[in-house]
Parts: sequence; structure tokens; C-alpha cells
Amino acid sequence: MVRFKNIVILTGAGISAESGVKTFRDNDGLWENHHIEDVATPEAFARDPHLVHNFYNERRAQLRAVKPNPAHKALAKLQQELPGTVSIITQNVDDLHERGGGEDIIHIHGELTQIRCKACAAIHTWQGDCTQSTTCPKCDREAVLRPNIVWFGEMPFFMDTIIDRLASCDLFISVGTSGNVYPAAGFVANVQEMGRAHTIEVNLEPSEGSSQFAELRQGKAGELLPVLVDELLAS
Ligand code: APR
Repeated sequence: MVRFKNIVILTGAGISAESGVKTFRDNDGLWENHHIEDVATPEAFARDPHLVHNFYNERRAQLRAVKPNPAHKALAKLQQELPGTVSIITQNVDDLHERGGGEDIIHIHGELTQIRCKACAAIHTWQGDCTQSTTCPKCDREAVLRPNIVWFGEMPFFMDTIIDRLASCDLFISVGTSGNVYPAAGFVANVQEMGRAHTIEVNLEPSEGSSQFAELRQGKAGELLPVLVDELLAS
């Protein structure tokens, strides 16, 4: 394999599947027994903040019961050992990349372990439950806190940084994402328009955008990524 110096990796729910976190588009079309539009839109939160807080409280509690898997650890090893830059952009709101040793993870869809104040804009690190009666630790108001999650219809985070990284990479790898949700689903096309990077998809099944990748490695991320990382480090 060619020696790559500037690698960007996009991850999705599939990388956490082997840790026991459910993906979004499972066969029943539901996300942890809910329709996505009932728990992951600003309208849903306005309509029923209690339901939405409860949903994310459960997801936050679930984090304590799951562990990073060999896929998260392999990417952390690549970050630590490659003589170059490895940027990890994740659509996942879990903290498994960080707990697997990953650094400077770019959470394009936000983080479960953060709560944001709609009144004063403060972002707080959060491990426990949050309800409508929880007060903002900074401005002390009630009913102003919300998960720091990018819901459908909201602007993704860190797009300027992401575009810069995509423009300068020589290898783009997409792992465990179905390619249904933009802008992340469009990154492979962005990379090809902006530069001459090699592109690899690692996924259990071909994604919506599979044909846009130069190389497809089909199977479980926890099995394929340690092999791919060793190949990259050996080159
Ligand atoms: N290894 C590799 N890929 C896997 C594995 C695995 N062990 N298990 C599942 N997959 C693949 C599935 O085949 C599927 O293509 O991971 C993909 C998961 O797709 P989605 O559930 O659609 O998750 P994702 O692409 O991350 O969703 C994007 O949608 O609801 C929103 O904001 C939410 O960030 C999320 C976004």
C-alpha cells in the first residue's frame, strides 16, 4: 500500500454496533423503539421535551454499559503511530472513540455527554439525567437545557474544520455508515472534487454511496479495521 500522510476517517453507527449500541436504520425502521422524528427533531423537543429528555437520558445511561471495541482501538492506534495526521470525524454521539484512546474527535452530530443551554448558550459536560426542571449551572434558569445533539433540520457542527481536512487529505476512509444523511454522505464526493485522495469504504454491506469509493472492504469494522490499520502502518 502507498504511504499516506494525511488521513480522514468518517465513522457512523456501524463502528459502535459491535459494542452493543444499536444502529439507526435497523430492520424495524425504529431507533431504540422510537421513530426518529419523535425524538430527533427540534419540533419533537418543543412538543414533548419530557419524552425527548428521557430518551437521551436512557442513551446516556447506556453509554456506561458499553465499551469500545477493536475498531475504535485500531483507529486510536493509527492516530498514535502514523507519522502524519489522522482526523476522525464521527456522526456518532457516543464517547466510544474517546474511551478507545482516540483524540480530537470531531463530533459532527454532537455528543450525548454534553448539554447546551438555550438561554445562555453554555455547553456543559453531562453524565447523569437532565429534565425540564434541571437548572442551567451557568445562568440558573429552568427549562432551558437541551441535549447538545444535532437534530434533523439543524446545522451540523464544525463544518469549516471538516471541509479543510477533506480538502487536504490523501486518504479518506468511511466506516459503518449507511450514507443516508447529508452532509456526511457527501464527503466522499467532496474529497474527489477537491483533491486526489484514495477512498476506502469499510461497511457490513455496500452503503448508498458505495460506488463512489475506489475500494470497498465488506465486513465487520471490528475485524477489518485492525487489519487495515496494520497495513497502513506497515507501508
Ligand atoms: N461493521 C461495519 N458496518 C456495520 C456494522 C459493523 N459491525 N454493523 C452495521 N454496519 C453498517 C450497516 O450495514 C449500515 O450501513 O453500518 C451502517 C449504519 O447505518 P445507519 O444506522 O444509517 O447509521 P449512520 O449512517 O451512522 O446514520 C447517520 O443518521 O439518524 C441519523 O444522526 C443520526 O448520525 C446518524 C445519522
